[in-house]
Amino acid sequence: TLSGNDIAIAKSLVPALKEHGKEITTIFYATLFRDYPELLNIFNHNNQRAGLQQEALATAVYEAVANLDHLENILPVVKHIAHKHCSLGVQPEHYPIVGEYLTMAVQQVLGEQATPEILSIWKRAYNVIADAFIQLEQEIYRQGAEQPGGWSGFKSFVVKRKEQEGEGLIALYLEPEDGETLPAYEPGQYVCVRAQIDKFYHLRQYSLTEAPGKKHFRIGVKREGQEGSHAGKVSSYLHEQASQGDVLELSCPGGVFTLDHTLPRPVVLLGAGIGITPLLSMLYTLRERQPERTAVLGYAVRNGEYHAFADEIAHLVRDNEQVSATIFYEQPAVEDEQVGRFDRAGRIDAAWLQEQVSLDSEVYLCGPHGFMQGILTTLLKQGLKPEQLHYEIFGPALAFAVP
Ligand code: HEM
Repeated sequence: TLSGNDIAIAKSLVPALKEHGKEITTIFYATLFRDYPELLNIFNHNNQRAGLQQEALATAVYEAVANLDHLENILPVVKHIAHKHCSLGVQPEHYPIVGEYLTMAVQQVLGEQATPEILSIWKRAYNVIADAFIQLEQEIYRQGAEQPGGWSGFKSFVVKRKEQEGEGLIALYLEPEDGETLPAYEPGQYVCVRAQIDKFYHLRQYSLTEAPGKKHFRIGVKREGQEGSHAGKVSSYLHEQASQGDVLELSCPGGVFTLDHTLPRPVVLLGAGIGITPLLSMLYTLRERQPERTAVLGYAVRNGEYHAFADEIAHLVRDNEQVSATIFYEQPAVEDEQVGRFDRAGRIDAAWLQEQVSLDSEVYLCGPHGFMQGILTTLLKQGLKPEQLHYEIFGPALAFAVP
C-alpha cells in the first residue's frame, strides 16, 4: 500500500510525465514490441503510428496516478477502458509487463529526476492501478462467460450475410459456428472482431446494430483509411475479403455506452456518420421494450450516399408515434433534394437542439470528436446536466477533451 506521502510524491511526478509524454510512450512501445512482439497481436498497429493510442494508455496511467487517492472520480473512464481491454483479451499477466516497460521508459526519459525512491513509489502506484483494472476486468470476463450463451476470449462466427449499407459501409450478419444461442447484450454495446491478416491478428470493435435476442449479431463496418494504408486494416479486410461462409472470431459483447431502458424520461439520440450504428440498436430496443417512451433521433451525414440504414430508420419512425427523426445532410446532392431523402440541410444546430431536447432528456451521442464537442457544449449551455449526456468515442477516448 501507499502512504499519503507516497501518493503525494507519485502525484508530483505527473506534470513531468505529461510534459515528456510523447518521448516516454515512444520508447515504451518500441522496447515493449521489441521484447514482446507477440503483443502486436493485441495492439492496434495503426494507432501506434498515428500516435493516438501511443498517448492514450500512458496518459490514462498518469491520470490514474493523479487520482490515486480517489480513483472513484475516474471510475467511468476506468470502466470504459476495462470493457475495451476485455474485448481485446487483455489478461492479468500483461500488466506487470506493461508496468515494467513503462517504468523503464520513465526512467530513461526523466533521468536523474527519477530517483530510485521515486521510481519505487511510481511502480507501487502503477500496481495499485493495475490491480484495480485486473479486478474489474476479471469481473467482466466472469459475467460474460457465465451468462447464457456467453463466453470469454474469442469465439468463431460464420458470416451469413454481407450487405452494402451506404457509401463505404457494410453490415455483416454473424452466427456462431457452434449453433449456440447468443448472449443478451445492452443496446449500444460492441463486439471485437479478431481477424488474422498478414502474420498478425488485428482487432477492432464494431457496434451491434439491432436489438438483442436474435440468432445472429449484426455489425456495421465503415471502411477506414486509404487503400493499402495501415488505417483500416480490418475494415478493408472485411469489406474486400470477408464473404458469406467465412469464419471470423468475435469477443463477447461489451461497452459502457448503453441505453438505460428502464428510465421513463424522453430519450434523444444524436449521431453523425457511422455513429448511427449504436443508436440504431437503441431505437430497435426502445421499440421492443419501451414503445411508450418518447424518442428523438437527429442523424447527420454528408449526403444521400452516406445515409445508412435509411429504410430501417424510416420504418422505425413510421411504426411508432413516440419516435421522431430529423435527417441532416451537410452537403445534399441535387438528387437528394429531388427525392426528398433528408429533412434539413446543414448540421445539427443549437436552434434544433433547443426545440427537440427537453431539460429532462437522456441524451446519447455518437460521432466524430468535433461533432460531439459542439453538441455537448451547446447542451450544457442549454442547461442539461453532465449526467444526462452519454457519449461514445470511436477511437481512443482520452484523446477526447470533454468541454
Ligand atoms: C487501450 C489504458 C494496460 C492493451 C487503452 C486505452 C486506455 C488504456 C486509456 C484507450 C481506450 C480507448 O480506446 O478508449 C490502460 C491503463 C493500463 C493499461 C491505464 C494500466 C494500468 C494495458 C495492458 C495491455 C493493454 C496491460 C495489454 C497488453 C491495450 C490495447 C488497447 C488499449 C491493446 C487498444 C488500443 C490499441 O490497440 O492501441 N488502454 N491500459 N493495456 N490497451 Fe490499455
